[in-house]
Amino acid sequence: MKTVLITGASSGIGEGLAKSFAEDGWHVIACGRDAARLEALHQHSPNVTIRLFDMTDRDACRQALAGIGADLVILCAGTCEYLDRGVVDAALVERVMTTNFLGPVNCLAALQPQMRAGSRVALVSSMAHWLPFPRAEAYGASKAALSWFAQSLRLDWEPKGIAVTVVSPGFVDTPLTRKNDFAMPGRVSVEQAVAAIRRGLERGKNHIAFPGGFGLIVRLLSALPAFLQRALLRRMVRS
Ligand SMILES: NC(=O)c1ccc[n+]([C@@H]2O[C@H](COP(=O)([O-])OP(=O)(O)OC[C@H]3O[C@@H](n4cnc5c(N)ncnc54)[C@H](OP(=O)(O)O)[C@@H]3O)[C@@H](O)[C@H]2O)c1
Repeated sequence: MKTVLITGASSGIGEGLAKSFAEDGWHVIACGRDAARLEALHQHSPNVTIRLFDMTDRDACRQALAGIGADLVILCAGTCEYLDRGVVDAALVERVMTTNFLGPVNCLAALQPQMRAGSRVALVSSMAHWLPFPRAEAYGASKAALSWFAQSLRLDWEPKGIAVTVVSPGFVDTPLTRKNDFAMPGRVSVEQAVAAIRRGLERGKNHIAFPGGFGLIVRLLSALPAFLQRALLRRMVRS
């Protein structure tokens, strides 16, 4: 039986991935902080075992993940908070950077002694850092940092036989986006997100981005000259 370790398995994309892998007969190590939601996942399938820890706590990560080996590690847990009208809230930025960047780094550090050749790590980033969207200073920076880290790590772990995948979703309908009060073009369901991620992982892709249409638009916008890009993004600034 193959083993997949998934952080953020108590909600949204991570929960969808955990159910999907468990239904396909994988042993799923489901990680998060919400005991009740993770217990429900275990009730859903006996293939699911649970690890409860806050990934921003390095010691807690080390203790919870000590000795755990997995064929596939999906670091999906994350958060999103936006700045309000350009007010730089240092505590907010720290929360987002700590959760989205240092959290996965803590998990990688705890898991690396057990990672074997032939295994793969997937880090869930976002398209949010492909363009400098207003209000996404903290979220975009955290995902840019995570993606950069992953791309360097891919080179350093290649000789060990460990593959690194970056996952860049557009908008997915989860509790994280349900609190957004703006239009979310191209938003897909968790089921669609899970299918896209699993397809990409099965193909051994270094980079998985979905949905394709929205991703193409963001990519094209990011290739525009800076003055044009700024003119378009300025329309999204709240007065
Ligand atoms: N939804 C989207 O449109 C979208 C788009 C691009 C990228 N993403 C990325 O996809 C990932 C999953 O997002 P989602 O939409 O599925 O969000 P979600 O439904 O809010 O789930 C977030 C998950 O992260 C876990 N988590 C958060 N902080 C944690 C911490 N300190 N320690 C341990 N676990 C923690 C939560 O677990 P507990 O509640 O149990 O702590 C929860 O399981 C995130 O990295 C997000 O940035 C999402």
